[in-house]
Amino acid sequence: MGNAFRSFLLYVLLMTGFGRIKCMKEEILVKVQELQFWDEKSTHAPRHFSNSMQIPRTAPKSSALLELKHQISPSSVNNFHEQLLLSDNARASSLQSQLRPPHFQQPVTRLPLTPGVALHTLNYIIDIKIANASMPVIVDTGSDLTWVQCKPCVNCYIQQKPLYDPSASSTYHPVPCNSTSCSSIFASVACGNMTDCGYSLRYGDGSYTRGVLALERISLGDAEVQGFIFGCGMSNGGLFGIASGLVGLGRTKLSLVSQTKAQFRGVFSYCLPSRVYNSSGNLILGSDSSSYKNATPLAYTRMLQGPRQAPFYFLNVTNVRVGEVELGLPKGSRVLIDSGTVITRLVPSLYNAVRDEFLKQFSGYPTTAAYLILDTCFDLSKYEEVRVPKLGLGFEGGAKMNVDVSGILYFVKKDASQVCLAMTSLADEDGVGIIGNFQQKNQRVVYDNVGARVGFGEEKCSYS
Ligand SMILES: *[C@@H]1O[C@H](CO)[C@@H](O)[C@H](O)[C@H]1NC(C)=O
Ligand SMILES: *[C@@H]1O[C@H](CO)[C@@H](O)[C@H](O)[C@H]1NC(C)=O
Ligand SMILES: *[C@@H]1O[C@H](CO)[C@@H](O)[C@H](O)[C@H]1NC(C)=O
Ligand SMILES: *[C@@H]1O[C@H](CO)[C@@H](O)[C@H](O)[C@H]1NC(C)=O
Ligand SMILES: *[C@@H]1O[C@H](CO)[C@@H](O)[C@H](O)[C@H]1NC(C)=O
Repeated sequence: MGNAFRSFLLYVLLMTGFGRIKCMKEEILVKVQELQFWDEKSTHAPRHFSNSMQIPRTAPKSSALLELKHQISPSSVNNFHEQLLLSDNARASSLQSQLRPPHFQQPVTRLPLTPGVALHTLNYIIDIKIANASMPVIVDTGSDLTWVQCKPCVNCYIQQKPLYDPSASSTYHPVPCNSTSCSSIFASVACGNMTDCGYSLRYGDGSYTRGVLALERISLGDAEVQGFIFGCGMSNGGLFGIASGLVGLGRTKLSLVSQTKAQFRGVFSYCLPSRVYNSSGNLILGSDSSSYKNATPLAYTRMLQGPRQAPFYFLNVTNVRVGEVELGLPKGSRVLIDSGTVITRLVPSLYNAVRDEFLKQFSGYPTTAAYLILDTCFDLSKYEEVRVPKLGLGFEGGAKMNVDVSGILYFVKKDASQVCLAMTSLADEDGVGIIGNFQQKNQRVVYDNVGARVGFGEEKCSYS
């Protein structure tokens, strides 16, 4: 794209309402290899958690702390990137299609979206115990049913841990098909002569899980939840890696947050680690903020309410800051915050403005070919240090999320010969922006479902 066109675009944007406010010079001088999230050696000071689930001894039982880990195998990196970004795109498209006015009747089982992947994507995993067995599950704030692969399997993908076996558990109780819990979850179920409450979820990319709903005792850290409704998935396939299943942290009553509301008061938060290998952040259930290690005060913005929002968390973005320049959105822009999408998506007009401003401030570095959905790439292989403009999102009410330096550039090539701005554009202006997990790293993100607000505070959470 020529410079003339860019200036024209910027001019058009100025005319259509992006106010630009100049602030102080805001950039970060950073060693290129420190941005390299594939690097196998963490540069952060090690913070030790003696085991994978730990709760501070003094903390009240209304708070549980779980470790969040990247699940990545260092296999073919090229394939890996491609798969990662393509599946991320499938998820984002699927989210988009759900958020448009429906053209046809949605299936009764709601929630069709591309889930995060445990292996070969940048999704996050926690271990939960179902009955007595520990299971690694994908953390997903964009869906609500928690499910694991279950015996007897009709059709299961290969997973790392043994399958959950209901017949070995005295605390397993299938939800009867004619019960109110079954009919309240699925608006119209034809039970016929079925005794159990069957479910079937199909995600946007063709991934699926099918099985029966059941009650079981689960453990989250050292907190126990009795009679938790989950999916015992007997036929599952798609992009779940080798995780045992998925934990849904969305907004509806089926989600883990809602089901544990009596205990954890509808509040959870996480801090996503920036490194891929041997690093971990945490997921905290409960409103006790004493386990947070945020370095900047938490600032909250309200969750938007509205049609077609369940199970999603929508926020109102009112500005995007690139270095010293603030791109204002006087009318705000509805975005969804999601732990399961990797790369942040913005509507084209906003993305273009952000990208142009970034290019302007990150000037002098040689550009290089685009990579899949990432259109703004640089060859930084000749540099030891680069000056990266800071990025930040501002929300209704004044809350800000400063993107950690690890969330600005995406290393496609390990030698830094192709490093891309880690954001992308939606296909059209009617799309809904998504704040992906890449931009949420090293950040305490608090979801307060009772106060209907989401809070942000900077926090280094790549504990080794
Ligand atoms: C991760 O930690 C394990 C155990 O401490 C170690 O054996 C392994 O080499 C580490 N992997 C990387 C990629 O640093
Ligand atoms: C599961 O753990 C509970 C409590 O620790 C114990 O009482 C029970 O016997 C265990 N069940 C199995 C099947 O191991
Ligand atoms: C559900 O079905 C079972 C077995 O057919 C029956 O015993 C029970 O009363 C039914 N419950 C309700 C709420 O209809
Ligand atoms: C369910 O009922 C139908 C007819 O009412 C019968 O043909 C079928 O065999 C039954 N299925 C099972 C699994 O019992
Ligand atoms: C978002 O915030 C802006 C600025 O405060 C406000 O004008 C707009 O109505 C808000 N949008 C929604 C959907 O509430």
